[in-house]
Amino acid sequence: METRVVVNADVSRGKIDKHIYGHFAEHLGRCIYEGIWVGEDSPIPNTNGIRNDVVAALKELNIPNLRWPGGCFADEYHWKDGVGPRENRKRMINTHWGGVVENNHFGTHEFMMLCEMLETEPYINGNVGSGTVQEMSEWVEYMTFDGESPMANWRKENGQEKAWKLKYFGVGNENWGCGGNMRPEYYADLYRRFQTYVRNYGDNKIFKIAGGANVDDYNWTEVLMREAARFMDGLSLHYYVHPGGFFNKGDAVRFSEKEWELSMQKAYFTEELIEKHSTIMDKYDPEKRVAIIFDEWGAWYDVEPGTNPGFLYQQNTVRDSVIAGVTLNIFNNHNDRVRMANIAQMINVIQSMILTDEEKMILTPTYHVFKMYKVHQDAERVALDIDTKMLSVDGKEYPQVSASASKAADGTVNISLCNTDKDNEATIDFELRGMELLGNMTGEVITSEKMNDHNTFENPDKVKPVEFTGFDTKDNAVVVTLPPMSVVMLSVR
Ligand code: AHR
Repeated sequence: METRVVVNADVSRGKIDKHIYGHFAEHLGRCIYEGIWVGEDSPIPNTNGIRNDVVAALKELNIPNLRWPGGCFADEYHWKDGVGPRENRKRMINTHWGGVVENNHFGTHEFMMLCEMLETEPYINGNVGSGTVQEMSEWVEYMTFDGESPMANWRKENGQEKAWKLKYFGVGNENWGCGGNMRPEYYADLYRRFQTYVRNYGDNKIFKIAGGANVDDYNWTEVLMREAARFMDGLSLHYYVHPGGFFNKGDAVRFSEKEWELSMQKAYFTEELIEKHSTIMDKYDPEKRVAIIFDEWGAWYDVEPGTNPGFLYQQNTVRDSVIAGVTLNIFNNHNDRVRMANIAQMINVIQSMILTDEEKMILTPTYHVFKMYKVHQDAERVALDIDTKMLSVDGKEYPQVSASASKAADGTVNISLCNTDKDNEATIDFELRGMELLGNMTGEVITSEKMNDHNTFENPDKVKPVEFTGFDTKDNAVVVTLPPMSVVMLSVR
């Protein structure tokens, strides 16, 4: 047998924080405008301007938190332009993303309303790059102060009597790049200064997130941890899979077999990044108080032909479902340090859950993975050992099978398995210890015949989960056969 998996259902490895399954919505392309916000007068069915079909689909994912307003946009966003009567709101240029006019119709109140509809926690990213300490401080006061103050009074005038609850707040984004091109020493000092005025009002306690490294810039993590760890609760980390590299990313649909392999190998690189950044963090924070907040991840390809290059609109194939499955397994397996993550992005941008074409909407293969994996949210991770065949591309090896396992509150054990091989099945010698199988295993699979299969507005269900029956149970030993290029969830009750 090429792969052996042993799950010890009675050996806990700590909780898998539900916030690992977070999302990200930036003012970028058609993510906010059209994807979420259509306005009250739109013919697209909506509630107070937010489209109903998208909210209904997203609610199925149990989204734990939603990051907004960027990304790069965050460091040029001035929140005061986005509150008050919509017709009076200032129009600005979205310089990062297509140079289009941003009319500020979706601002703080609309974002908080969206979070309420999705029953998700807001994660707001403040502006360090082009903002001021006062602006950031007043935003927090506006949102969370319940007494009498200039900002709280203004919020009330704008229709929100009660202060909102806000836990997650990011102090800048990618400040090594679009967030100000800073050196880590400079940003560490700015972080310390800005975060001082991110106040806790009443019982609202903010979890402060410092802007983290670009991929493998380990020096950034070293400096931030050395200079500012005690002022932060989380440190972010961003990494995207680009099969052909940043400047020639490759097509989302029309890709080669080699690009498939590179995509898998690069998805696994997430694990090396987490381990190396964690090692540095351990030096300054052995108790692991400061979390890694992997608040941008996903597969980022060239835009769909004929679309605005600044809008980052791309299709999503079965390849993306496997990338998502592998990455989420890695996050689950590093639950001691990785306590939040946000896939980029929720709708119509990069590796999205949903694609829209005006009033039409489809779900992507990645959406189905998030739905399938929601059983891991806040579940108890259980010990899993895996021995699998190594595949390789350009001399770099990566495992054929990726796996993680957790136990839900009702005792169900869920095991997520991905086969990264696009040509061959993976036959797994699977053993469950610490629990009776009793023939109660069920499964679901996401796969397809061709590696570039995807959902379209004409054929929206080409890639979707179906029942998985590829296992043969005998006592507590099972032979599981994963189809090529697949994501499987096994559940034992
Ligand atoms: O997600 C798209 C962009 O990628 C974000 O705005 C930025 O933070 C990152 O570089």
